[in-house]
Amino acid sequence: MTEPAVARVGVLISGQGSNMEALVRGAGPVAGYEVALVLSNRPDASGLERARALGVPTVAIDHRPFGKDREAHEAQVHGALLEAGCTHVALAGYMRLLTPFLVEAWAGRMVNIHPSLLPLYPGLDTHRRAIEAGDAEAGCSVHMVTAGVDEGPVIAQARVPILPGDTPESLSARVLEAEHRLYPAALSDWISGR
Ligand code: GRF
Repeated sequence: MTEPAVARVGVLISGQGSNMEALVRGAGPVAGYEVALVLSNRPDASGLERARALGVPTVAIDHRPFGKDREAHEAQVHGALLEAGCTHVALAGYMRLLTPFLVEAWAGRMVNIHPSLLPLYPGLDTHRRAIEAGDAEAGCSVHMVTAGVDEGPVIAQARVPILPGDTPESLSARVLEAEHRLYPAALSDWISGR
């Protein structure tokens, strides 16, 4: 397959899609990528409407009819990504554990953003855990997606302070702002080989 001049990124979401919006706003010829598709496993994800308002094609592939057959759901997701001509995948609040099928299909071409300074705090509830540990700072990481959850090589990180009196909510808001700056820049640098 001949690579398009500008990478075509499929963004996978499950929720509000604020990182997806940051990726769309950061896209363009200079960034070296465009968002070709926004796909959600939840048909009611508010991020789908957000993507449509930004003029980006959307697809919802509900995981529920597939029950425990995660691979069958992923086969549909994979098909939709290929149909849209995607060359890369960016997970942005996609709340599904991936099977080896999708991880291997996009090996070296799929990244995720995680709201902690990996390898600290993989998984859920990162902000509460950072506060309870007495950490002085928190942050977010963009990493390659590999078989282990939040375990792939880190591409870029941004740090924010944890302030006295911070709650998981106040820290989450601070980290999310950092995510919106980090993700488009990290995606662009990675795709452009910088
Ligand atoms: C972000 O905190 C991201 O790091 C995590 O899920 C959240 C998604 O938020 N993986 P949004 O849907 O992009 O607003």
